[in-house]
Amino acid sequence: MNRFKEIDVNEVKDNFISLIGKDYALITVKNDDKINMMTASWGFFGVMWNKNAVSLVIRPSRYTYQFLKEGSEFTINFLQNGYDDVLKFCGTKSGRDYNKVKETGLTPIEICKNSVLFSESKLAFLCKKVYVQDMDKNLFCNKDFSKKMYPDGDVHTMFIAEIEKVYCLKD
Ligand SMILES: Cc1cc2nc3c(=O)[nH]c(=O)nc-3n(C[C@H](O)[C@H](O)[C@H](O)COP(=O)(O)O)c2cc1C
Repeated sequence: MNRFKEIDVNEVKDNFISLIGKDYALITVKNDDKINMMTASWGFFGVMWNKNAVSLVIRPSRYTYQFLKEGSEFTINFLQNGYDDVLKFCGTKSGRDYNKVKETGLTPIEICKNSVLFSESKLAFLCKKVYVQDMDKNLFCNKDFSKKMYPDGDVHTMFIAEIEKVYCLKD
């Protein structure tokens, strides 16, 4: 943990669109003794209800979805360079079938009772769930688009969470 320091969210120098869309996030959930993580490239960072917040969209078919529904906190990790294989693994394999911590060799660091960040992260956000909403296919303005995005259902659920803490590597 002493490799990391806590910073204010306003001190984050990275571009949030590039972080999520290009670097990819590792959404990390812990429920009692079990840790699972999945790769995500969709989501928003911003401000909501006067809180610094993040919005993620997770399909109900994901194992991570169950953890997110049950738990109250989770972390979003952005890994240092050189972990493309880890992001690929966590974005294509399910925690139902694999212990992803063991398979990837990432090193979890406990930051509070039910949340960890990874030693291999460059930036990590501790988030607390505020709002959960199943997205409705019928509310899309362009029906062709929603049909294309959701040919088989499994429509995303949106999780809005408050950013409680931000950790980055020490210089
Ligand atoms: C680059 C990339 C981005 C992804 N983004 C998302 C996302 O934003 N939301 C989502 O539900 N799934 C997303 N996925 C798919 C999940 O990461 C994938 O289904 C994963 O295996 C789920 O793991 P789990 O079953 O252990 O939760 C993405 C996959 C990749 C490779």
